[in-house]
Amino acid sequence: MRRPIIAANWKMHKTPAETLAFAKEFAELIRGAEGVDIVIAPPYPALSELGRALAGTGVMLAAQNVHPEPAGAFTGEVSIGMLADIGCQYVIVGHSERRGLFGETDEFITAKLRAVQDGGLRPILCVGESLGEREAGRTFEVIAAQLEGSLARSDTARAEELVIAYEPVWAIGTGKTATPELAQEVHAFIRGRLAERWGGAAVQIRIQYGGSVKPESAPALMAQTDIDGGLVGGASLDPASFCAIIRYEDRVEK
Ligand code: 13P
Repeated sequence: MRRPIIAANWKMHKTPAETLAFAKEFAELIRGAEGVDIVIAPPYPALSELGRALAGTGVMLAAQNVHPEPAGAFTGEVSIGMLADIGCQYVIVGHSERRGLFGETDEFITAKLRAVQDGGLRPILCVGESLGEREAGRTFEVIAAQLEGSLARSDTARAEELVIAYEPVWAIGTGKTATPELAQEVHAFIRGRLAERWGGAAVQIRIQYGGSVKPESAPALMAQTDIDGGLVGGASLDPASFCAIIRYEDRVEK
């Protein structure tokens, strides 16, 4: 059985002080939440603060980005060693905003992904098609190419630790969640590609859905066979709404 993993991607939101306020409220709300991995990726300046504030809660830290080199003249960048030192366990790589706004290529993304694995952290690799690509019937072709390119240098021995996030670009921040059936179709396709690459290990790899996930949409998404969690942007900024997503099982109709 794959353990669900619900992650918050705060993007460029919240100062360390705002993070502390969030953590206080959130720690109370998630008390007793079991059976799900909870991960939060705040901006870099808030990482240490968040780690301290949530110590003992089981919530894990993620970085939103990283540089593949261990050190050097890379102004503005952060290394894997620095993230490991402050207790980070996950790193988001290949987010569509990094691909689209900052020109990150699959070649760069796969270098990061491998470096994250070599550094003992776990990558959350994002893939997803744009609206134009979906309307042109190119979704599977685009996802396959992103997987191939971004996983080119991935460590086979660490395949099971990998997390993939399917984030259709047209659903990010738009309020348009993919229907559970549509998301499941792509998730099944992704698992099929992972199985071609790694065989049985693909069954263990967790695939998150991301794109306007809300407390109301989480239960039906999470009920899909190949949806193992969520990567949540906007709705993760509020402790109550992020907690409601984490506690999606409470709202599953039995
Ligand atoms: P929203 O949940 O705000 O659509 O963001 C999704 C996302 O990009 C998470 O990485």
